[in-house]
Parts: sequence; C-alpha cells; structure tokens
Amino acid sequence: MIALGCDHGGYAIKEAVKKYLEENSIEFKDFGCYSEESVDYPIYAKKVAQAVASGECEKGILCCGTGIGISIAANKVKGIRAAVVTNEFCAEMTRRHNDANILAMGGRVISEDQAVKFTKIFLETPFEGGRHTNRVNMITDIESEYCK
Ligand code: RB5
Repeated sequence: MIALGCDHGGYAIKEAVKKYLEENSIEFKDFGCYSEESVDYPIYAKKVAQAVASGECEKGILCCGTGIGISIAANKVKGIRAAVVTNEFCAEMTRRHNDANILAMGGRVISEDQAVKFTKIFLETPFEGGRHTNRVNMITDIESEYCK
C-alpha cells in the first residue's frame, strides 16, 4: 500500500502519480489534498509519514511546490526517510543507499512525466543493505549514543 499526499503546489503531479498507480494495479491511499486550493503542506506530510512509520503503508509519495517543505515536515516523524528527488539517478540511489521510505517531488520543479518516471524507479528499486544498513540505523537513532 502506497500513501499519497500533496499540497496545492504538488496536486497535479500527485494526480499523475495516482493515475500511474491505478493503471498498474498498485494499491494506494490518497491522504489529500484533493484540489489546487491553497492548503498547509505539513498537515499532509504528517498524515503520510505517520501511515508509513506505523506500517499501515509500505512507502509514501509526497508532492508540494518544490518537494522541500513537505519532505522537511515528513522527516520530523521518527523512522521516516523522505528524499527530494529531481532526477532518475537520485530516485534510484535514495532507495539503494538510504532506504528512503518516502519520495518527495516538486510540482513546480519537474513535469508530470518525470514524476511518474521517478515514482516507477523509486517503487521498483531495492535497498542494497550491507554497509548502508548501519548508516540508515544511525539516521533513525541520530540523537542516541548509537550515532556518535
Ligand atoms: C506553497 O506555495 C509552497 O510553499 C509549497 O508547495 C512548497 O513548495 C514548500 O516547500
């Protein structure tokens, strides 16, 4: 199950991603927003981040104008690794090395086609594990003795 969320600036690319998921029979839950009316992106970041952190959803996709604000907000939830992606290489590497569990994108930065392309890569690329596992665990426990 994929959690989707956006603000008004990311609404169009979220809808494009949603269409791709529907066409490919990939289950999703759309946490809003549902139009281009101005809203506050932290609300949608929190809904999606909590759905992923709790295990209700396996991964999340968040879209705002730049992808930046909504990812900063999502990363405040423990266990979330939200990555802003603007090219195919980063979409792949943030899965391979960071085990990113939320893909963040900007509707004022990339096209709908790019958003779909990055989504496909993000959902299909596995985490490499190995030497990256400890680093990812250090992110989760960044305020503990584990990361020093
Ligand atoms: C909304 O105007 C805009 O600030 C928001 O979509 C996002 O780009 C914030 O980072």
